[in-house]
Amino acid sequence: MKDKQHVLVTGGAGYIGAHTVVELLHAGYQVTAIDSLERSEQRIVEGVSSITQKEFTFTKVNCLDAAALDQLFAANRFDAVIHFAAYKSVNESVEKPLMYYNNNVGSLLVVLETMKRHRVPDLIFSSSCTVYGQPDHIPVDETAPFKRAESPYGATKQLCERILEDMTTEGLRVVSLRYFNPIGAHPSALIGELPIGIPNNLVPYVTQTAAGVRAQLTVFGNDYATPDGSCLRDFIHVCDVATAHVKAIEFLNHLKSPTVCEVFNLGTGVGVSVLELVKKFIEVTGVKLNYKIGPRRPGDVEKVYANPHKVMQALHWKPTYDLGQSLLHAWQWEQKIRGLVN
Ligand code: UFG
Repeated sequence: MKDKQHVLVTGGAGYIGAHTVVELLHAGYQVTAIDSLERSEQRIVEGVSSITQKEFTFTKVNCLDAAALDQLFAANRFDAVIHFAAYKSVNESVEKPLMYYNNNVGSLLVVLETMKRHRVPDLIFSSSCTVYGQPDHIPVDETAPFKRAESPYGATKQLCERILEDMTTEGLRVVSLRYFNPIGAHPSALIGELPIGIPNNLVPYVTQTAAGVRAQLTVFGNDYATPDGSCLRDFIHVCDVATAHVKAIEFLNHLKSPTVCEVFNLGTGVGVSVLELVKKFIEVTGVKLNYKIGPRRPGDVEKVYANPHKVMQALHWKPTYDLGQSLLHAWQWEQKIRGLVN
């Protein structure tokens, strides 16, 4: 790495953003993190400081605010941007599609314009396996075609990837990481996910039920064509997701080409069923979990897990945490935010 590189992280107080700031600081990068704090909290920023004991800059900025972003770029010389800032609720996107298109696509356009104006060449983008819909073949690799997105949220990720493909003529170097199902929290339990309201996602629902915040978990469907009838997903520890971003920056650093647009699946390659996850949670935490089987959730794909060959080869990355550790860390974080432990 040349002299300490300066990375701008948008959505730096968010779930994956904050874990990535930690890994960037550990790896010796200078970091400026921005977040609107609309859907996160200052305590996450403080958690990052406690974990790393390193200096970084945090500023409350919304990526849609082009003037504020321009000022930030004028005052700093960023070498790369990691763009996390986006809304991520599938359900909410169905209710409020315009808000999702405005925020998720709009913020990317502002970031790209600002990067171009200030000649910042490298971008890492948060994409999602949702771009595939239900793939014809699993494990799914990066060559699989996009199916029609199930939700406006999914459509924003497809649109953003399409926009980024066109950016090579603008002299940009882009890596998009298609996350499968990030779960868990930092092992220190100082940062983790802060779901707003009733969680849509499985693991926060599981940990909130275990903590007594929710009465009962519903497993959405046990009549799928899978070994135990529940859906299959690729659950990946959020810290492993975070380290892939550091590797993606290194990948671009070593690349000679002045323009590139690469996409990588970011998953473990292991399909785990919802019921297997529930059982593993009970096993590793020793906590009782009240759950029942309910009807299928509309829009769910039956099974999707990654072929992670490309990311492992090109980024020299591999997952380091298993499912049990991921669930234990999620539970430790839940206990911490509920005041069940010190
Ligand atoms: N599930 C339950 N009960 C719950 C919540 C979820 O049984 O209370 C099941 C779902 O039906 C699904 C699995 O757990 O089978 C995983 O559901 P999540 O909502 O945790 O995750 P999804 O796979 O639906 O969605 C995730 C991300 C999205 C992303 C999508 C891509 O949350 O951002 O993967 O497929 F778009």
